[in-house]
Amino acid sequence: MNVIRFSDLCAHGQAAGQRVFIRADLNVPQADDGSITEDTRIRASVPCIQMALDAGAAVMVTSHLGRPTEGEFKPEDSLAPVAKRLGELLDREVPLVANWVDGVTVAPGQVVLLENCRVNKGEKKNNEVLARQMAQLCNIYVNDAFGTAHRAEGTTYGIAQFAPIACAGPLLAAEIDAIGKALEAPQRPLAAIVAGSKVSTKLTILKSLSQNVDQLIVGGGIANTFMLAAGLKIGKSLAEVDLVSEAKAVIEAMKARGAEVPIPTDVVTAKNFAADAVATVKKATEVDDDDLILDIGPETAAKLAAQLKQAGTIVWNGPVGVFEFAAFENGTKVIAQAIAESSAFSIAGGGDTLAAIAKYGIEKQVGYISTGGGAFLEILEGKTLPAFEILAKRAAG
Ligand code: 3PG
Repeated sequence: MNVIRFSDLCAHGQAAGQRVFIRADLNVPQADDGSITEDTRIRASVPCIQMALDAGAAVMVTSHLGRPTEGEFKPEDSLAPVAKRLGELLDREVPLVANWVDGVTVAPGQVVLLENCRVNKGEKKNNEVLARQMAQLCNIYVNDAFGTAHRAEGTTYGIAQFAPIACAGPLLAAEIDAIGKALEAPQRPLAAIVAGSKVSTKLTILKSLSQNVDQLIVGGGIANTFMLAAGLKIGKSLAEVDLVSEAKAVIEAMKARGAEVPIPTDVVTAKNFAADAVATVKKATEVDDDDLILDIGPETAAKLAAQLKQAGTIVWNGPVGVFEFAAFENGTKVIAQAIAESSAFSIAGGGDTLAAIAKYGIEKQVGYISTGGGAFLEILEGKTLPAFEILAKRAAG
């Protein structure tokens, strides 16, 4: 995808002395007292801000935090804890500016954080008057908020239409590049792991990937529905019986392309869902009526691991078993290790996937870890994200 890159503007001295408006995704999880419990998104936003400061720009940064009611600012909506953390990371004070739509005072070499943009009336519906007002605040608009790239809101879309220059920040550009490498021009074979509790939430992803990938590895409750589609019994395991025909259609679509959906040949079962439940490994053809399938079996895990090691590209979304429980983590652990050991370019995203990556300590061996939740899923669905679309349009002139 062709977009203007902020790094190029900076490299050519085009950001010096300019007013730069950065839309970041600083929507971090918080405890009840407002303290930040996980700051990955803030850390991921620092390079863009630092790049703008180093380039001699007057820097304004904003983000949404949660889903506040527009026009009704409440203390819990405030970006104050984010300003504090950002200040620590940048090693400088980051003043927080409220009511900023009509004007912001900031000088070259300074950075200010503009209070929660979703409190502004018209932000969520991408009101044109608001978008034009915000565009007047800057000479250069930078979208660095991949986590919000699937939303067409005032600060993610509208402002990009009207700002003199609209470009992608380094984080957004890195996501665009990684996604392009994995899905648009992948080194083959391309393997995707799509796991989670329900087919229904990932049906569009499964259908979209079935047109592109060479192996579609399913896991979790999704695999159970596919086992039903393959004529296997799954006992009382989580599954969506009404979606068996859709699962069959995905299997057929893959077969028609000479690709495959590997169905587990063995599984780990329990009689109840608990961390201390007794785990039993059995053949996929021998699941009892009162069994719950909580993981793929070791034989299946080893086969999938071998495929992943042969892959040219791997896309990973979702753990294949209940990896939070030690007795049912083997499948996810083996998959994670295979991805880590594979020479394939790998891209991973989604909350549970990130938790598994952290649990098995393979962060450095995954090619790219996406910061997007919903945005990453929409990419896998084959959608063009609004933020990408408008930046590409602006780059085209
Ligand atoms: C996220 O947390 O996924 C992003 O920040 C987007 O948030 P939203 O779903 O409230 O738009």
